[in-house]
Amino acid sequence: MDNKEPTMIDLLLETHIGLERQGPGSSEAVKRALEFLQPLDRFEQIADLGCGTGGQTMILAKNLSGTMTGLDMFPNVIDAFNQNAKRCGVEKRVTGIVGDMADLPFQKNALDLIWSEGAIDNIGFETGLRHWRAFLKQGGCVAVSCPSWITQTHPNEVELFWSEAGCHLDQIDKNIEIMQNCGYAFMAAFVLPETCWTDHYFYPREQAIRSLLEKYADSETMKTYAALNRREVDLYMKYKQHYGYVFYIGMAI
Ligand SMILES: C[S@@+](CC[C@H](N)C(=O)[O-])C[C@H]1O[C@@H](n2cnc3c(N)ncnc32)[C@H](O)[C@@H]1O
Repeated sequence: MDNKEPTMIDLLLETHIGLERQGPGSSEAVKRALEFLQPLDRFEQIADLGCGTGGQTMILAKNLSGTMTGLDMFPNVIDAFNQNAKRCGVEKRVTGIVGDMADLPFQKNALDLIWSEGAIDNIGFETGLRHWRAFLKQGGCVAVSCPSWITQTHPNEVELFWSEAGCHLDQIDKNIEIMQNCGYAFMAAFVLPETCWTDHYFYPREQAIRSLLEKYADSETMKTYAALNRREVDLYMKYKQHYGYVFYIGMAI
């Protein structure tokens, strides 16, 4: 047991820092998205925005020969990212940096590919795509996943949960339209399978939270945090036919 009262951010970081992924996704989904982007040897300068500890970046590094920069707002997440790059033996061409997705530190027209999984919703799909466009070369590509409605029915409980988390969901057709309005040709979209949420994210996260519940047994913040995570899982299991993570792939024109 630990006497220190953690904050929600402490708990969020402590839960996720040791996980392979910090949101729904999988190596299979990364490879499926890459299929739409052939030929892959054209991507020399690549950025992975909201990279977390780099689960998806290390898969990208195995499949792409270019130089990759992972960017995330939390320094200890980036430390873990750089350790992972070293562990995978790709540290010479994969580097993590601390930065803001909404204020990119790259040169304009310099990137061949922007990758971003489960992160753009923190700044808004449109805000992100519009800002990122200027950093891509013409003909460069974007591959981005975010939670989206996959039916016309939008249950109130889900809408409320996500908006309280600061995230707005749109339908796939609306996001494709936004992508086109932000200066991209739409190339493909696909819904991530349920295992991307369960096997690759919720189950390992639940295990990490169980350990934290023991560590912070007296903490009310911990109990609230665990309940919030439980609610996210319950909502997904109840309403998964209505929403999911969707990968959107486009080309800068
Ligand atoms: C749901 S996690 C996804 C991490 C990773 N891409 C994955 O799929 O496993 C979202 C990540 O975005 C980062 N993030 C959120 N807002 C950000 C911002 N404005 N700039 C940079 N990173 C941000 C968070 O720190 C977090 O690591």
